[in-house]
Amino acid sequence: MKKPWNVGLIGCGFMGRAHSNAYRKVGNFFDLAHQPVLKAACARTRSDVTAFAERWGYESTETDWRRLIDRKDIDAIDICTPNDTHREIALAAAAAGKAILCEKPLARTAAEGADMVAAVERHKVPNIVWYNYRRVPAVTLAKQLIDAGRLGKIFHYRAVFLQDWTIAAELPQGGAGLWRLDKNVAGSGVTGDLLAHCIDTAMWLNGGIDCVTAMTETFVKERKHNLTGKVEPVGIDDACAFLARFGNGSLGTFESTRYARGHKALYTFEINGEHASIRWDLHDLHRLEFFDHKDESIVRGWRSIHVTDREMPYMAHWWVPGLQIGYEHSFVHQVADFLNGLAEGRAAAPTFREAQHTQHVCDAVLQSASSRQWVDVPSD
Ligand SMILES: NC(=O)c1ccc[n+]([C@@H]2O[C@H](COP(=O)([O-])OP(=O)(O)OC[C@H]3O[C@@H](n4cnc5c(N)ncnc54)[C@H](O)[C@@H]3O)[C@@H](O)[C@H]2O)c1
Repeated sequence: MKKPWNVGLIGCGFMGRAHSNAYRKVGNFFDLAHQPVLKAACARTRSDVTAFAERWGYESTETDWRRLIDRKDIDAIDICTPNDTHREIALAAAAAGKAILCEKPLARTAAEGADMVAAVERHKVPNIVWYNYRRVPAVTLAKQLIDAGRLGKIFHYRAVFLQDWTIAAELPQGGAGLWRLDKNVAGSGVTGDLLAHCIDTAMWLNGGIDCVTAMTETFVKERKHNLTGKVEPVGIDDACAFLARFGNGSLGTFESTRYARGHKALYTFEINGEHASIRWDLHDLHRLEFFDHKDESIVRGWRSIHVTDREMPYMAHWWVPGLQIGYEHSFVHQVADFLNGLAEGRAAAPTFREAQHTQHVCDAVLQSASSRQWVDVPSD
């Protein structure tokens, strides 16, 4: 008999849907000691949360996250709200002894993140941050190949995350759907939103980043604010590019923008090592490209690995070899790993503490862009 694990989900938007889908599916595909129960959903508007709860099968609803955290029948709080709320909700949830699954970025700044790390560690509550790209099987396979030494010494790490949805100057900032353009809510622009993913994957695959030098640009300087109705300065970075030096001696280049016409979510990375190279593309997420210099020269070349075999990460839980899975499955994998950790009394990665390293890199990137200097990344 599986142990019920009662989820209280806060925020019923994009990630609220992705996580709810994961909680519903995980028990069908993974053998777990716990069974997620969709106990309560929380959003500020009664009609929104009622419709969401009906669609996804939540047993109850709340419109104030504090009431949700106070409830004795909730085991875990899932934070799927905009970035300005993460710290306050996490601190309250930790004090109430709840497990916490927090969306990325952990917080708007490393200072906020530090409070959150301290809170979960003080109250000893299980915690994780949803850097879900680690659990795309092709990305996990990249990690296995690197850890097995297949690339040898790594020289280069190259990542981009390109979008094009904020080019129109008449697009407002702030409020539902557009909070990402409001610096007070988001904390930063593409740095915290998109590069945070690239940085998390990069440090997971290639180790810590020692120092960075960055440039940012805000192409549209003023936009009407949806909540005030006034034209206000835009505080976020629309685009950011930075260079990084990794602790292992390799060089990193990172670029993100919401002004790359034609690109919706082009997240790619390439890693070049002494023996081999690896390339991955979110638009083709079930494939890993691999070049092995050890191959015989007459057949040497980039191969495109279709990551569907049972030996490949997570794939034994899904269909038969040859049939691929997609974006939503990375969230299912994250829940499965978190619950396995819970059952075995160990933390699943990335914990708040690990995600805080990404906050430090983001802060250093923004500081470098403003000072035009190289900035060292604090190690803790
Ligand atoms: N892991 C990923 O790949 C990924 C992708 C998208 C977003 N995110 C992160 O997830 C979080 C949410 O982003 P989203 O795209 O789902 O946003 P969204 O705008 O689609 O949804 C946010 C939801 O939070 C609700 N909300 C806001 N303030 C609230 C409050 N005080 N109490 C209760 N509900 C509140 C909103 O009404 C909305 O339902 C952000 O931190 C974002 O960075 C992560």
